[in-house]
Amino acid sequence: MKAILGFNNLGYIGKNNRIMWNCSDDFKHFKTMTMGATLLVGYNTASELPPLKGRTIIVDDKRDGYVITNDTDDIWCIGGKKTYEKYAQFFTEVHISHIDDDSIGDVMMPDLKNLAPWCKIYHYYFDTNEKKLANQNPFTPQLEKLADQVAKIENTVYGNDPGAGFQNGNIGDGDSGFRG
Ligand SMILES: NC(=O)c1ccc[n+]([C@@H]2O[C@H](COP(=O)([O-])OP(=O)(O)OC[C@H]3O[C@@H](n4cnc5c(N)ncnc54)[C@H](OP(=O)(O)O)[C@@H]3O)[C@@H](O)[C@H]2O)c1
Repeated sequence: MKAILGFNNLGYIGKNNRIMWNCSDDFKHFKTMTMGATLLVGYNTASELPPLKGRTIIVDDKRDGYVITNDTDDIWCIGGKKTYEKYAQFFTEVHISHIDDDSIGDVMMPDLKNLAPWCKIYHYYFDTNEKKLANQNPFTPQLEKLADQVAKIENTVYGNDPGAGFQNGNIGDGDSGFRG
């Protein structure tokens, strides 16, 4: 199973069960990567998820009896935080986008400590269309931890496969309403 996630400059990934940023390149990236696939989504994220054409959605509502293993390469885990953490051990690839956005959310980056050693990590960077005025956010130990985590992720990327996965949008139409 692969995973795709985005975080902003402050380490947030969502607010009120939605993405906070308006970034068409990130939307296009998400659409291009996931088109035609089956998407595994958490209950909270699913509550605000618009229809995603061309993809099959499985909602983890703790009721279905499906079994996820690391053989399921055609499935993408699309979050949210608890869902990434729950399935991290099964990810064969994680595609992480850093979005240049300063808005304050209510859910931060997942802890990906359970990733398998063979999991490939791909990193992307996208500018927002409408970069919001910087919100002042006090420095916190949580952000320090996040910075360490991102540094480790980036070291893994550069160490394993320099430049792997670096892209910048311009690939088809995005899923407006999901990541924005
Ligand atoms: N930036 C990105 O790439 C991205 C992608 C996706 C989502 N997000 C954001 O992530 C945030 C959501 O993450 P999250 O960790 O809160 O949630 P989530 O991973 O979407 O869903 C998991 C949550 O749903 C609960 N749940 C599962 N089945 C349930 C049921 N039948 N009834 C009630 N609750 C049930 C789980 O409870 P238990 O803990 O009890 O199991 C858990 O709290 C949102 O802000 C969303 O916008 C960001």
